[in-house]
Parts: sequence; C-alpha cells; structure tokens
Amino acid sequence: MTIPIPAEDPRHVPNLAMIDPSAITENTRAMGTLLEEQTALMAVVKADGYGHGMLTAARAAIEGGATWLGVAHPASALALARADLDAQILTWLFEPHTARIVLPEVLASGVDVSVGSPEMLALVSEAARQADRRARVHLKIDTGMGRNGVLPWQIREMGATLREDDFLQATGAWTHLTSADDPSDPATDQQVELFDSACAAFADEVGPIPLQHIANSAATLTRPDLHRDLVRPGIALYGYPPVPTDVPLRPAMTLTSRIALVKEVPEGHSIGYGRMRTTTRPTRLGLVPIGYADGLHRAGSDRCDVLVRTASGDRRAPQVGRISMDQIVIDLGADSEARPGDEVFLFGDAGGDPGGPSASTADDWAAAAGTIPYEVLTSVSGRVTRKVLS
Ligand SMILES: Cc1ncc(COP(=O)(O)O)c(C=O)c1O
Repeated sequence: MTIPIPAEDPRHVPNLAMIDPSAITENTRAMGTLLEEQTALMAVVKADGYGHGMLTAARAAIEGGATWLGVAHPASALALARADLDAQILTWLFEPHTARIVLPEVLASGVDVSVGSPEMLALVSEAARQADRRARVHLKIDTGMGRNGVLPWQIREMGATLREDDFLQATGAWTHLTSADDPSDPATDQQVELFDSACAAFADEVGPIPLQHIANSAATLTRPDLHRDLVRPGIALYGYPPVPTDVPLRPAMTLTSRIALVKEVPEGHSIGYGRMRTTTRPTRLGLVPIGYADGLHRAGSDRCDVLVRTASGDRRAPQVGRISMDQIVIDLGADSEARPGDEVFLFGDAGGDPGGPSASTADDWAAAAGTIPYEVLTSVSGRVTRKVLS
C-alpha cells in the first residue's frame, strides 16, 4: 500500500513558483515560426513540465500550436491521455516491472510508445495484445547518446519483428542529439549520418517511415535541416534557449519568497554553516525562508543576487553564506528599507518598473551552481506551491 503525503495548504507556504502559461504559449508559437508547414511541434512536458506543472505546460503549448506532447514515463503519458487534450502523445522510457502494469492502458489510450531495445519491443507487443490494440511504435536509435536506443546493427532485426507482428505498427524513427547546444561540434552531423543510414535500413524492412524526428530545442533553433517531420523542444518553451537566438522567448517560472526577519549586524559577523562569509562592514541581513530543500542549489551558495521589493522600490541583494536546507541570508546593505514580509524574487520575471533592476534568471543560478537551467527549474521541489497565473 502507498500512503499519500498530505499536501501543505498553499496559503500557509511562503514560497511560490509563479507559472505564466502565456509565456509557454508564446514561446511555443515563436518556435513554431521556425518550422515548415509539414513539420509538427512536440512540446516536451516530461518531469512535470520541467517543473512548471505538466498539464499547465501541455495546455499552454497546445494553445501555442503544439500538436504532440512528449514525456519520458508512461505514467505521465497516461495522466496526459486522461486529461483528454488535443494532441498525440509519445512516451519513451520504461522498464519491465511498470511496463507490465501500465502499458496496456497507455496503448488503449492511443498513446505512441518508443522502443529502444528488443526487450522493450517484446513488452510493447505483449501489452498491445492485452489492450487488443495495435501499438504505434517509434524506434529509438542510439547514434551516440549511449542511453535508450538500438544500435545500427539491431535495426533490421527490430524492423523484421515490427513487420511480422500484427500488433505493432512502425510509426516513427528517432534519435537524440548529444551536443546540439554546441553548433560547432561535429558530433551532430555524425549522429545524423548514422541516423539516416539506420532509417534507410529500417525502411527496407517496414516500408516508408511516417515520422522521423531528431531536433531538441537547440537543433530546432540552429538546424532547420534537422526539423524533419517533427521537432521536440523542451527548455526553449519554458523560456531558456540553450543557444543564443533572436527568437523571442521568455521565462515562464518566477520563484518568490518573503523576508522573515531583518537584523543589523556589525563588521566581522559570520554567516551560515562553515562561516563561508563574514561581513566586511556594518550591514542589514535579511533571512529568507527558502533553501536547498526547496530547490536552490547549495553549490551556488554566495554567488547569486535576489531582487527585494521594498517600500522604496526594487533592490538587488546578494545571497551571502552557505545556502541551508530551509533558509538563505541576503545582504540588504546598511541603508536598506527592506522589512519582514517584503517579497523576494529568486529568479524569473519580477514585473517591476521597466527601468528598474531585474531579477536573476534560472541561467544565473545554474551558472552559480555549475549546472544547467534544466536542473534549476526541475529542482524546485514539491513543497513550493505552483501558482498558475491567469
Ligand atoms: C528525448 C528527448 N527529446 C527532446 C528533449 C528536449 O530537449 P530540450 O529541453 O533540450 O529542448 C529531451 C530532453 O531532455 C529528451 O530527452
């Protein structure tokens, strides 16, 4: 038996991830302008919509023109299917234990599945028989990622199995790029070459492949030649392009908290675990009740600014000392008018005075912690209430 964890009442929680679905809609629309008419857009909404809420992200992306939704786990695909959205769904990551439980219903719901090994194909075939429905299968080809996917010399055998099994239908062939965020890296072209020859061998076995897909956000932005039948952007839809671009994209998540206390300290006052920081002048410190258990990366301690909305306007303040589990300290400066209860923007769109200071971004926090914005966004934990803006 699994015991549900009681949810905290959002009214009692100081920390909010404000989600702006219109940003996801507009970002999707902007990415769509790069595509030829015959290319479809699959919004990747795995990992709970990169932390934004899977259904919120899915609905917003569909409004922006997405006709496909992509998720790693079949359980997520099922949740999307039950929401009865106007989009085809693809799911690509499962192991035998959960596959046996969930795949029959996933297939019965009309979801497409990816297979990356002969064993996965056998599981799908078994589930399709149980569901009494022909499974729409996308063959994942490992062209250098070394994760999910069949190797080139397995293609013909997989193709023959697909052709001979009445419960399987070859719907697509796809691969995932290792290095598209570095357009100068020759790895992308090497992968595409392998993919194309694998597709030719696959088509020899099963006939024309209806859907070929390769491109993530970076390749959608930089490689129109790789758009093929559909593109699979994720991070760009949430406002964080992984490559420099003129396409207008804006962050969809703003993480906020509020000051719990303000105190004046003298020069030489140490702050936090390990005394990572000691004040070099008298100042006012603000305590903010958000920490690494909420998703801030401890490795980014003492390296990023927050934005504080005080009675006299917005002010940036550096986060100082080690990030704790539940709290951080910010250096407000000796003359600060910040008070307990003032809003603190960790990252995102603070929506203040256009001429005033802006909040940090998930990119800033990622750089501070030596990671990527994907991890910053998906790390915002379950105890942070998602507030969907309307
Ligand atoms: C298979 C697959 N396709 C597409 C994406 C989307 O990638 P990005 O968020 O870089 O656009 C991901 C995300 O990691 C993925 O795993």
